[in-house]
Amino acid sequence: MAKYIIEGGNKLEGEVKIESAKNAVLPIIAASLLTSDDVLIKNCPKIEDVFNMINVLRNLGAKCEFVEDNLFINSKNVFKYSASKKLTEKLRSSVLAIGALLSRKKKAKFSFPGGCKIGKRPIDIHISVFRSLGVTVNEKESGIDCFCKEIVGADIQLPFPSVGATENAILCASLGKGKTTILNCAREPEIVDLANFINKMGGKISGAGSGKITIEGVSVLHGVEYKPIPDRIECGTFLIATAICGGEIEIRGFNAKNISSLVSKFSNNACKVYSSNGIIILNSRGYSDNFLVETGPYPLFPTDLQPQMAVLGLKGRGCSVIKENIFDNRFLYLSELKKMGAKYRLDKNIAYLYPSNLKGAKVRALDLRGGASLVLAGLLAEGITEIDDIYHIKRGYLDLDKKLTLLGAKIREEK
Ligand code: EPZ
Repeated sequence: MAKYIIEGGNKLEGEVKIESAKNAVLPIIAASLLTSDDVLIKNCPKIEDVFNMINVLRNLGAKCEFVEDNLFINSKNVFKYSASKKLTEKLRSSVLAIGALLSRKKKAKFSFPGGCKIGKRPIDIHISVFRSLGVTVNEKESGIDCFCKEIVGADIQLPFPSVGATENAILCASLGKGKTTILNCAREPEIVDLANFINKMGGKISGAGSGKITIEGVSVLHGVEYKPIPDRIECGTFLIATAICGGEIEIRGFNAKNISSLVSKFSNNACKVYSSNGIIILNSRGYSDNFLVETGPYPLFPTDLQPQMAVLGLKGRGCSVIKENIFDNRFLYLSELKKMGAKYRLDKNIAYLYPSNLKGAKVRALDLRGGASLVLAGLLAEGITEIDDIYHIKRGYLDLDKKLTLLGAKIREEK
């Protein structure tokens, strides 16, 4: 299995290119099922989860091809409504193909989705959304079997602002009959990007980014060329890495508002963030502070930056605290960090992190963002760190080792 070999102790200096957001691109790929016209997703990152989502669509009969960095999709010849466990278990976003298929073909028979092992990850809210929109959903041992005569607009109140369930409601209602409102919906920038994508196809979605989204169903959606937003989690990962290692990085073409909850954590004198006109610069003389982070739905602190922040807490001064409010098992990576000398205490969903002298060790990535935290720890640790099972990391980061090397880190991939 491929691994990363990292020698810690280097500062990070220079400009880093951020890819299009994984968590915007995946629902947008699902949304391309809503039209029989050509769709072109520009600057589409060639990461594992994109290839996994492409396989789901190809299995249904859609044509998906990369043309340089752009992903071309045509779903005219989609003839299948089902997707096997082998395909859907590879990623969480496979569940979004259901909403789009129901909207376009009124049928879908899917095995339960997979995704990072960071908690139970049920799809009960997705199922309740489908049923609100007039879909019959038969829950089976291995998955769900859905069908409807037509999608009928409805007023939906989500019990929790689930990102995926909000996206499925939008995908399912866009070609429905009448008006749908979604209350207590997710407000993430990736939701806004999905709504912008569908509106550019001729959709009528308003309120994305607020707590109430309104969708006027339309009879047809046409083809589109679209460039998704930059990845705020990749951007945040590099900012935290630089805060940990010291140095200065610059990121262009990024709206700092999308990670204001992270930027507000770099308030001390040793770590400064400047942002204007789409440019973010972080300058760090080495983090020497501590913090309290509570993850929550956007605009609160993103759970996808929680593991990376834990490494910053090990670098800081005094005790830092992280409370994980989104997933019920998202601290698995701490046991790997412990092999490097991390000092922490875990009390249910709260991690207390103490200054630690990290030493290089052999560790294993257990999920995407936990794996990223091991990379950051390796950049900080004294000596050599080997990270196994880096396929988890490659699901969501393109060329992470090459980008870090360009910034001055000593990291390479060993096949
Ligand atoms: C999306 O997952 C992201 N994935 C996750 O990013 C992210 O961590 C998460 O949103 C929260 O921001 C993609 O966009 C592909 P949720 P999703 O539905 O849609 C519970 C990464 O690292 N829930 O908002 O699965 C669920 O168990 C990934 O890039 C139900 O109980 O997140 C969780 O505790 C990891 N029933 C909470 O809600 C449901 O039907 C949040 O889940 C759905 C969700």
